[in-house]
Amino acid sequence: MYNVPKLTDYSAAALERVAAELLSALEHEAASAKSEAEWKIFRDRWMARKNGLLTQINDLWLKGAPKSAKREVGQLVNSVVIPRVDTAIRERHDHIKSLAILKKARAEGLDVEIDVAKRALQSSGWLDITLPGVRRPIGAEHPIIKTMHEMVSVFQKLGYSVADGPVVETDYYNFESLNFPPNHPARDTQDTLFIAGQQGKPQWERLLLRTHTSPVQIRTMEKMRPPIRIVIPGTVHRNDPPDASHSPMFHQIEGLAVDTNITFGDLKGTLDHAMKEFFGSSVKTSFRPSFFPFTEPSAEMFVSCFICGGSGRRGADPCRPCKQTGWIEILGCGMVDPNVFEFVKDNGYDPRKVSGFAFGMGADRIALLKYGVDDLQLFFQGDVRFLGQWA
Ligand code: DAH
Repeated sequence: MYNVPKLTDYSAAALERVAAELLSALEHEAASAKSEAEWKIFRDRWMARKNGLLTQINDLWLKGAPKSAKREVGQLVNSVVIPRVDTAIRERHDHIKSLAILKKARAEGLDVEIDVAKRALQSSGWLDITLPGVRRPIGAEHPIIKTMHEMVSVFQKLGYSVADGPVVETDYYNFESLNFPPNHPARDTQDTLFIAGQQGKPQWERLLLRTHTSPVQIRTMEKMRPPIRIVIPGTVHRNDPPDASHSPMFHQIEGLAVDTNITFGDLKGTLDHAMKEFFGSSVKTSFRPSFFPFTEPSAEMFVSCFICGGSGRRGADPCRPCKQTGWIEILGCGMVDPNVFEFVKDNGYDPRKVSGFAFGMGADRIALLKYGVDDLQLFFQGDVRFLGQWA
């Protein structure tokens, strides 16, 4: 065990030697502190005011030094010994704490925490070559993004390209150009979140969070002349309090096809094919009349329940996802209303010459059903134990 020697020889060579001995003892003792309790003993042995090694150094080296050597000994103690002792004690403590975290994380199988602890151990300058290497967990697509990619790729195979637009949108694109006139009651269905402080602007310029991906239909038609076939995956917002099936932020996939002679038959054929690609070739589709301001006629499309196979029952139990109907509502669709084309007429969309169909679906609900998740909030809480299931 190291003892602070009395100094008699104050030559530079002698000082260098005692300093080297002290620092090597410090390093050795630090490395042998293996637990919080041992570290405390180590700390107190060096730092204790009463008879700690630093106090002894002060008494035995500094106080006893002849006038001519005081400056040099003082410098050695203050700018080498004390900072090195401080650092050794602090780093050893960090190391022991990180090891404890690592041990706990390993026991609980928390990959991310294991990684963080290993990084901390390495950055505290200690190298334990017996530690397993740092394994970087490979990221995975979020289940909603994965669902959107899969749906988008179904349409890409049909020749559709991907378009996108801003999440903070103007009243014009979100409503007016989609044939929701100012004050029209259809706007009430959208539970819009408005950006504050827009009253000074004309209504069509006021900003809001887009409530659907449909505004990108107009934005794209302004930029590209017909024919077009596009899909638009994106984030949308509505003033819905979060619960197991609602979120103020959610995801949609929109589609638009415009050409000469596009018919409702094209709409049905395209969507029926897409649903078979996505859910499996045995699903059927059913179209029921509906209303959207920007399509005429409009429809809601259902697919036969891919959970119960359309029977409405799962063995003896009722099928909950389809509420025993055998059908699940997937999207809204319809033939593009001529009033919508009027807004982009100058870019080749003369409603007397072109026609088109459009559709829009919610990606979150499809992901819930597809993966059998019963609470939408799980998708947005960022818990790696949940999300890691898609890795
Ligand atoms: N934008 C509609 C909504 O969020 C969904 C929709 C319906 C989109 C019909 C369409 C469509 O493109 O043709 O409620």
